[in-house]
Amino acid sequence: MSDIENKEQKKYKISFVNKKLEKIKTDLEIILLKKHKYLIANDRFLKNSKLYVRINNFKDYTIVGTLTNTMQYINNINKYKSIKISLYGVSNKSLQALIDGLLLGSYNFTKYHSKSKKLRLQDIFIANENYMSGKFSYEKIKSKIEDLILINKNINLSRDMINSVAEDTTPIKISNWIQEEVKNTGIECIIKDDNYIKKELPAFYDISKGSINKPRLVHLKYNENKGYKKIVLIGKGVTFDTGGISLKPSEYMYDMRLDKAGAVTIFGIIKSINDLKLPIEVHAMLGFSENMINNNAYKPGDVIKTRNGKTIEIMNTDAEGRILLADLFEYSQDKIKKIDYIFDYATLTGSISGAIGEYSAGLIGHNTKLKNKMIKVSKQVDEWHVDLPFNRYFFDGSYKSAIADFTNIPTSSIGGGSIMGGVFISSFLKNKYKNKWLHIDIACVSFIKNSWKYHNFGATGFGVKSSVKLIIRLTKPWN
Ligand code: BES
Ligand code: ZN
Ligand code: ZN
Repeated sequence: MSDIENKEQKKYKISFVNKKLEKIKTDLEIILLKKHKYLIANDRFLKNSKLYVRINNFKDYTIVGTLTNTMQYINNINKYKSIKISLYGVSNKSLQALIDGLLLGSYNFTKYHSKSKKLRLQDIFIANENYMSGKFSYEKIKSKIEDLILINKNINLSRDMINSVAEDTTPIKISNWIQEEVKNTGIECIIKDDNYIKKELPAFYDISKGSINKPRLVHLKYNENKGYKKIVLIGKGVTFDTGGISLKPSEYMYDMRLDKAGAVTIFGIIKSINDLKLPIEVHAMLGFSENMINNNAYKPGDVIKTRNGKTIEIMNTDAEGRILLADLFEYSQDKIKKIDYIFDYATLTGSISGAIGEYSAGLIGHNTKLKNKMIKVSKQVDEWHVDLPFNRYFFDGSYKSAIADFTNIPTSSIGGGSIMGGVFISSFLKNKYKNKWLHIDIACVSFIKNSWKYHNFGATGFGVKSSVKLIIRLTKPWN
């Protein structure tokens, strides 16, 4: 599969046009109606290039669900190149639901399908006609819709990256892909190779010793020394996690290409911040590495050293993400001065699904106020975060090693695996940054097997929307 070009994937465009619906020429029109004679016995009815769709009400949840089902139906037919819909019935408040349903709900991952299954859809037009609000100008609605589209496009791109198989997203390949995507944007992309990583971030280097695919560190910079407020984003990008010598059982291993979701999510976030032209400085540190096995692989019982000389006794090579993050934390705090906020995204712990289910992310940190802000704003974009509070007793000697500064898994079975993951990485933060930090564990929500909301199968792109919203909330000078 490795010769499949990422660029080959065709993407549809979505545009908001100030025209009457009848003046827009497309192959299909979607008409959402609560009641219609065609819809007495059917949920949808296709007649003369018009698709009549029953919608029970115009609440956000229903708009998202109805449009997602409709778009998946249209994609299955795979005949139409262009479709149109009006804003009729959709209030100003529900524009996000509309764009989410149309753009996130219509997403299908077709990269590995043969030609006949490639998506034909190229254009979706939203017509301004019949817009009922009256309070907002066309320009204002247009700019709101365009912002939503920019973010959703980045979510779909992030989904593509996460869904792509490990052979196509080795640390080198995904770093190059990201470099391509940020070309001609305001984002500077610096890729550090394995020689650099071996010297500067030795623990991060060690976890991929068992792989022929060498690690890469991608440092994306936006508005360096220019922006108002400085945000550092750190992401776990394990392009495949076999567990290493502490091998995962097959049923837990096969979808481990998802283990790069943290790094890809922060790429989606910084790209969105660039596209929205926010006047802040952002650094994204993406650590890409493959956790494999060969003669040279790191082993249980090894003692490895982080950048700043802290020693870690490896008790389980499957707890590799926290090691990568430890070094990235130290590196970021050394290289970037006066940071206002540090957020890390990682598929860190399998136990999180049992704790909170698969519809939210786990939120960990020392600053309750900051966590509460995230919980509040993320609900507004329908990405829920669940507070997993630290308790001081979790910190009492839980990573004590007989021969090194730390072990990499807790030495007694005290449970709370996801919180304990947070306890470990928190020790690599300087005190002055402890209250400026959030750890978001997305292991449960970044990749799904059953369709949910506007997700079909696979990568969700969860985290981009809520993080962008939180960052705006935290940095707008008038807040
Ligand atoms: N990548 C996994 C976590 C994971 C599991 C993500 C399932 C998504 C779905 C991580 O590297 C891991 O294996 N963590 C271990 C930690 C343990 C050994 C302390 C885990 O969760 O079992
Ligand atoms: Zn692992
Ligand atoms: Zn992992």
